[in-house]
Amino acid sequence: MGKGQRATQVYKSTEFIEQRRDEDGLVVGSDPFKLAPSSSASLLETEKAAAAAAAATTTTESAETAASPDAAAAAAKHSGERTSELDTVPTFILVTTYLSYLMLIVFAHLRDFFGKLRHPEEYVQLREQNGWAPMVSDFESLWTRRLYGRIRDCFNRPITGVAGGHVDLLERVSHDFNKSFEFTGRVRNVLNLASYNYLGFAQSEGPCADKVEAAMREHGLTQASTRAEAGCSQLLVETEEMVARFVGTEAALIVSMGYATNALNIPALVGRGCLILSDELNHSSLVSGARLSGASIRVFRHNDVASLEAELRRSITQGQPRTHRPWKKILVVVEGLYSMEGEFCRLPEIVALRRRYGFYLFVDEAHSIGALGKRGRGVCDHFGVNPHEVDVLMGTFTKSFGAAGGYIAGSRALVSHLRLKSHSAVYAEAMSVPVLAQVSSSMRMIMGEDREHALEGQQRLDQLAVNARYFARRLAEMGFMTMGDAGSPVVPLLLFSPAKIPAFSRECLKRNVAVVVVSYPATPIITGRVRFCISASHTRADLDYALEQVSEIGDLLMLKFHKGDASAKRVAELEGASRIKTE
Ligand SMILES: Cc1ncc(COP(=O)(O)O)c(C=O)c1O
Repeated sequence: MGKGQRATQVYKSTEFIEQRRDEDGLVVGSDPFKLAPSSSASLLETEKAAAAAAAATTTTESAETAASPDAAAAAAKHSGERTSELDTVPTFILVTTYLSYLMLIVFAHLRDFFGKLRHPEEYVQLREQNGWAPMVSDFESLWTRRLYGRIRDCFNRPITGVAGGHVDLLERVSHDFNKSFEFTGRVRNVLNLASYNYLGFAQSEGPCADKVEAAMREHGLTQASTRAEAGCSQLLVETEEMVARFVGTEAALIVSMGYATNALNIPALVGRGCLILSDELNHSSLVSGARLSGASIRVFRHNDVASLEAELRRSITQGQPRTHRPWKKILVVVEGLYSMEGEFCRLPEIVALRRRYGFYLFVDEAHSIGALGKRGRGVCDHFGVNPHEVDVLMGTFTKSFGAAGGYIAGSRALVSHLRLKSHSAVYAEAMSVPVLAQVSSSMRMIMGEDREHALEGQQRLDQLAVNARYFARRLAEMGFMTMGDAGSPVVPLLLFSPAKIPAFSRECLKRNVAVVVVSYPATPIITGRVRFCISASHTRADLDYALEQVSEIGDLLMLKFHKGDASAKRVAELEGASRIKTE
């Protein structure tokens, strides 16, 4: 079958499907995920018609974005070429970073080589024994022992108490180069720039904690059953309805674990013969869900709409491998806010592509829900996009709501389908009572529906927005290289060199500031970073203290890579976006 014939076949199925979409672009019918992806039509039109369609899309979009200053700001920012901070990294830093890793690896191999000669008994797990293959690969083990092991004190630091604006760390020491740790018995209260407590709802007292306590006294801790059996409590149903109202969809389904929300629901939506187009930096739970589904997976470049469109066009025209039949469904999977990069997904452009090509869109709002948008309703709220333009809105309660678990929101048909087909609804235990109470009380507060604390939710949202912008702008003014969009509560600061990563973390701890540092393999090898998580519970004094310490450490470790113009440009970029937003 020739390419043209295949495309015609796709076009016919597209016509059929388009009749089943309402004016919001939602698929009408009992099970939206039973239908194939629509619209490869634009691929069949002449260049002229395609250009006209693109112009029409832009016009519709600009009419919509004009209604929202947020959307205008976002569109203004995203319409131009995005200049990455990484484009301006001096060659000297790139070369020295790669050289540093190379030296570390060469020395690690040398130490292992001599170690195996002198103390073979310590390397027994790397050798084949009695016909058993080694448990771990040589390089993985080398990396863990010789590189990660040296800086292990910077990770998994045990805490106690509430992970709020400040947190108590259990002090520990190692006498054997981080092979083991001993607690000293001392507890250190440190400024917490490491937790995802965006709105400061991680609290052990206050209105939410009171509601949690009252709910436990009334309903106990758990329903001791799955949702599909006896776990469907009134509290759960009411909270699901509230989540749907909050995100602006017809219905929602609550799952007791955020990771499982992705890992177990994606397989209920797509399977063999379907295609998942996934952003290359998607969270591991999305990757697990995609792999479990059995669908074909293709990856497009991070936040690169052109790469997504190219992949879409290729996939739609080529169809499935070997048979070249049209894909049963195409699901595009992105995150609302990428938590390692502090970047928002380019939702308006992706939604425009969705209108044009008719794929299904899945947006993971784990970090954006509660943290973005004037009303805290996530990335749709931030960009002024109608939530009905996204087929599946997923989010977690772990971050902004100070709770646990996740949700899937969308059309009633979608949610009813998942209640029956998703393993998270059928086999996993229903969300526990205190967590539901925390979710509903914090969400009610954000929505301004808690009469006693009517303004508190909005105050927290405003405080987070102000704190995040202030912190990112001050770092840029100091000359640090930061990543991410203006207003992101996650502010990554690039450290590059592998030696500076633990040094930064340890210096911060010395000064009573807890931070998370991230390096390869969690990031590309060149872009080791510290990731500051800003919260509404941080006061201006907290942020100023942190900035003062970070500035001193920056001088010590020579991290202020941006000078003069480059620094001013980054500040203007951050300020430009925030000025438009607040006007
Ligand atoms: C994008 C994304 N999705 C899903 C999850 C999983 O959520 P949870 O930690 O609530 O299990 C995370 C966790 O950080 C995440 O970042």
